[in-house]
Amino acid sequence: MSERRSGLFLGIDIGTSGIKAVLVDVARRTLAEATVPIGISRPHPLWSEQDAEDWWQAVEVAGASLKRQAPDAFARIAAIGLSGQMHGAVILGHDHRPLRPVMLWNDGRASAEAAELQVQYPDLAGQLGVLPMAGLTFPKLLWLARHEPETFAAIDCLLLPKDYIRLKLTGELASDMSDAAGTWGFDQAYRTWSDEAAYVIGLDASALPRLVEGTEITGIVRPEIAARWGLSSAVLVAGGGGDAAVGAVGIGAINEGASFVSLGTSCQLVRVGSSYRPNVESLVHAFAHAVPERWYQMGAMLNGASVLAWGAQQLGREVSDLVGEVEAHFTGPSHLLALPYLAGERTPHNNPDAKGAIIGLTSTTSPQEIAQALMEAVAFSLADADLALGPAADDTAPIAAIGGGARSELWMQMIAAVLNRPIVRYRGADKGPAFGASLLARVALTGEDIEEVAVPPDVADVTEPDERLVEAYQPRLEAFRRLYKVLKGEI
Ligand code: XUL
Repeated sequence: MSERRSGLFLGIDIGTSGIKAVLVDVARRTLAEATVPIGISRPHPLWSEQDAEDWWQAVEVAGASLKRQAPDAFARIAAIGLSGQMHGAVILGHDHRPLRPVMLWNDGRASAEAAELQVQYPDLAGQLGVLPMAGLTFPKLLWLARHEPETFAAIDCLLLPKDYIRLKLTGELASDMSDAAGTWGFDQAYRTWSDEAAYVIGLDASALPRLVEGTEITGIVRPEIAARWGLSSAVLVAGGGGDAAVGAVGIGAINEGASFVSLGTSCQLVRVGSSYRPNVESLVHAFAHAVPERWYQMGAMLNGASVLAWGAQQLGREVSDLVGEVEAHFTGPSHLLALPYLAGERTPHNNPDAKGAIIGLTSTTSPQEIAQALMEAVAFSLADADLALGPAADDTAPIAAIGGGARSELWMQMIAAVLNRPIVRYRGADKGPAFGASLLARVALTGEDIEEVAVPPDVADVTEPDERLVEAYQPRLEAFRRLYKVLKGEI
């Protein structure tokens, strides 16, 4: 019982650009946090890979940093929650070591396989929550079966990225509903693996790990790690979940009608529901939540704050300086028009070959004008996601914003204007899925009601849509949609 009151919770998020770890107490205070950057390898066009072992090394570094910052608190960790980038194919051989680098969520190599699955099995998507798309796990495994058949034949177990950390921590092979949901191999309504989906890609169903809910216990930290990290011998590891779902848990978005924008490397517009509501034709993803008996619908875009980061890098600027300049000069919509599709796109195009563009350049165009156009392009893609999701039950209710991109007040104004909805930011929401993971760990340990633990944090501010901008952005949004159609097939 004393552990319930004094124990602390460690949330770990296996992000694409870095591993984030937070140490959280029962009052939801973050006592220490650490971020360890990781890179992406792109050995061929459309490929996007990371090494699972690098994630584990980064977790070790993040853990050591937390321990340095708060040694007493670190020793009191009672439970660990995991979150991570979704859709990555972590494939293990008999020795439980990775057979090859992980093909990530933004890997576009499997477009032919995805298209083929769609033609051959048109009815499966309704069960699996989403049309087959190149970045999803099972289409990538079909690519592997075709292009690296020996590796495919050697698969003993498939895991999602965060599950590799679970394996290292506990020795357990397990995943959770919300991460399984993103594989294109999971029966969303029944919350179980789809034998049919495994069969169509030729994967032996015995390679699929056991599934738990995000709030369940999957094992305890191995004695040698507990000893090395200075933990007690009975630290629990909870099921956890995919980053979209666990980010939702972190801001209390677990009930019907909750809606939020996540502006990280990728970006999403999410609506939570208490039933499974597929909408595959609109390229919406309908996935199991990290909380039992909940699902969510999501417009999932591959290009979020990473587009601005790319722009800043090309222009030789720091993102924060560039955004500062945009904010200082902003008077209304840019005269430039950009497409954000640097990594291809899922919602609303399902096109790994989609490309980015910036048009309207002149000899006097400034870096800050380019940055503004890139920020607007991401905002417009969120409006496309909103269109794909269809009318909301309450189209005046505020939408929350989380992720690194939500730090920019101007970006919030742009998004409020194109969605014509108030945007609410919460205090501490930049801790994102790592914080949500700590809450899942807490529920796994204490058995508390998730409804009481996953509650919205204090509101930091609300950005109301500015009517002048709502009107001014409308024709620009239409031009954005036309531009994609015009350029598709040309570049
Ligand atoms: C969701 C998605 C991203 C990744 C990486 O469908 O692709 O959220 O999980 O963050």
